[in-house]
Amino acid sequence: MTSLFDLSGKTALITGASTGLGRGMTLGLAAAGADALLVDHVASGAVADEVRSLGRRAVSLTLDLAQSGSAALAVEAAVREFGKVDILVNNAGIIRRTPAMDFTEKDWDDVMTLNARSVFFLAQAAARDMRKRRYGKIINIASLLAFQGGIRVPSYAASKGAVAQITKALANEWAAEGIGVNAIAPGYMATNNTKALREDPARSGAILERIPAGRWGVPEDLQGAAVFLASAASDYVTGHVLVVDGGWMAR
Ligand SMILES: NC(=O)c1ccc[n+]([C@@H]2O[C@H](COP(=O)([O-])OP(=O)(O)OC[C@H]3O[C@@H](n4cnc5c(N)ncnc54)[C@H](O)[C@@H]3O)[C@@H](O)[C@H]2O)c1
Repeated sequence: MTSLFDLSGKTALITGASTGLGRGMTLGLAAAGADALLVDHVASGAVADEVRSLGRRAVSLTLDLAQSGSAALAVEAAVREFGKVDILVNNAGIIRRTPAMDFTEKDWDDVMTLNARSVFFLAQAAARDMRKRRYGKIINIASLLAFQGGIRVPSYAASKGAVAQITKALANEWAAEGIGVNAIAPGYMATNNTKALREDPARSGAILERIPAGRWGVPEDLQGAAVFLASAASDYVTGHVLVVDGGWMAR
């Protein structure tokens, strides 16, 4: 049974791997056997060291994924260092919190560029390599705001809705190429992304009160879902958005 989830010999490219959910999923994939290319616009060497301490190879690449052409550079680095990309985790993402009445074009464009545009072009660049072996796994990180509107985060909600739709659109086209495309929609997780919410006693209390599990999620909570969607265990699963939220959406 464990061989279904074994990632030995696989190469994973993880974006936003220096911290938070990206770091957690990177360590989960490495524990299951994958080597890792860590891509971030800040240094991710400390996480690469953690991957190596698990006995896997790791290479860090510092790259701003909001820049045009960065997707090809990331995939080229993985092919140069490891010979291929088997698993892409499209995790890097940002959020801007401002009432919609006051929202700026910059806060719209910055979020859409990283959270939606770069997700599509990274998937495209990775799939062009995966199709050579007729096998690959793409995992996009969506959000509960792929389903709900959120409060004061209009570009983030729009971008995560786009992530869910990009996931389904690519799944339809690439199933015949042997490439699975799925998304994980994390619930409310304790990372930099939610620092402002957790520091607001009213919002943080209201959120916690609705989570059936009775706690905020932590990055380790995504490891099982990431390994499942990266492994042969999910070979007949594509176009799915897997909610990992302590029960939030069931309320
Ligand atoms: N924390 C949550 O509750 C939550 C819930 C749902 C979805 N998510 C999503 O999970 C993903 C990870 O978020 P997190 O919570 O770990 O937040 P985080 O802010 O801790 O991590 C985001 C990562 O993306 C990287 N990044 C930001 N801009 C970049 C750029 N231009 N180029 C390359 N890398 C860049 C950051 O350096 C960081 O490593 C995001 O897509 C986020 O939207 C988070």
